[in-house]
Amino acid sequence: MAVVTLEGVTKVFGASGRRSAAVRALDAIGLTIDDGEFFSFVGPSGCGKSTALHLIAGLETADAGTIRFDGVRVNDLEPKDRDVSLVFQSYALYPHMSVRQNVGFPLKVRRVPRREIDTAVARVAASVGIESLLDRRPRALSGGQRQRVALARALVRRPRVFLMDEPLSNLDARLRLEMRTELKRIHQASPVTTVYVTHDQEEAMTMSDRIAVMHRGQLQQCGTPAEIYRTPANCFVASFMGSPPINFFKGGFLARLLLNDVEGVVFRGLAPDGLSVGLRPEDLSVRASSSPTAKGAATGAATTGPWIPGTLRFVEDTGRERWGDVDCGGQMIRARISGSVANGRTQVGQTVAVDIVSTENIQRFDASTERRLCDEPKVS
Ligand SMILES: Nc1ncnc2c1ncn2[C@@H]1O[C@H](COP(=O)(O)OP(=O)(O)OP(=O)(O)O)[C@@H](O)[C@H]1O
Ligand SMILES: [Mg+2]
Repeated sequence: MAVVTLEGVTKVFGASGRRSAAVRALDAIGLTIDDGEFFSFVGPSGCGKSTALHLIAGLETADAGTIRFDGVRVNDLEPKDRDVSLVFQSYALYPHMSVRQNVGFPLKVRRVPRREIDTAVARVAASVGIESLLDRRPRALSGGQRQRVALARALVRRPRVFLMDEPLSNLDARLRLEMRTELKRIHQASPVTTVYVTHDQEEAMTMSDRIAVMHRGQLQQCGTPAEIYRTPANCFVASFMGSPPINFFKGGFLARLLLNDVEGVVFRGLAPDGLSVGLRPEDLSVRASSSPTAKGAATGAATTGPWIPGTLRFVEDTGRERWGDVDCGGQMIRARISGSVANGRTQVGQTVAVDIVSTENIQRFDASTERRLCDEPKVS
């Protein structure tokens, strides 16, 4: 196991190429992944996740910066000398070998005795559910099955660092959930430092000890799932992490819509103009309202907190929950539907009120820089 440190790590593709413009895939990334930690890189397509993993593995070289394993610089070390185990985004199975040979290959090249290889392959095949496929060739497998073979090949030995690039992306929803649990179980039983890449924020949130959120080659925030969710560093992190995504309002616009903001809980002494306010759908609740524009005229459940008038435009039913899109003065806001509305008494097109059920998680950002504002404004 190892502590992995990135210091100012930068990767530029195509810098010397004549045809296409250079792409700064990683821009001065600095972070430390602790020994035995389950650490995820998350972010949208093209943000630099795979590049970060390839640099740690030694498959690409950094243009600037230092990568260390346990404090020792590894920039110039060959991949085979870094003792990492990789699952590629593109599987990269050996087509001429059976599944059994593919999975056992990392042990064979390390000259592990045959009997030990057989035992290890059987163990890992059972844990990812590919026991019945061991004698097939990769071309005779589905995409999801190939992905599990690639995962098994990485898990068959205990390296210093596991590097996994979207290892569950081709599995069906149920298998994906099962594999998430299985990977966590394997990690808990044997906590090898694991660097995991995913574009799925929910996967990152549920599996990781800590998460690095990336955007356009830059590290936006690094922290525990709770830190990232409750105190997002900027508007990008707030909008990328969470499903359904957070709602944003310009502060001045929201100030004109908000009714019953008696305690100033939304603005907390900050001037609404220049503020961008983030409200998560799960902290908002839609209820019926007969007169949404007149202060105090709402009907339905009694409310003492701030609320926003609007018109229900769309309802999404996930089975477990119902979400409503409410048109609030020309801006759509997504909120949880509960009570009488959930029972079908409120229809699309009806006027409603959106209550801010929990005011603890209101996010406040500087509207121009999109950076988070401190939670307790200074009183002058
Ligand atoms: N070999 C390469 N040559 C040129 N550009 C590259 C190369 N590899 C990656 N890039 C570019 O670098 C950026 C980061 O790519 P990377 O593969 O790290 O993204 P990613 O976050 O893994 O995305 P995805 O979720 O789609 O896999 C992208 O703009 C990509 O086009
Ligand atoms: Mg990738």
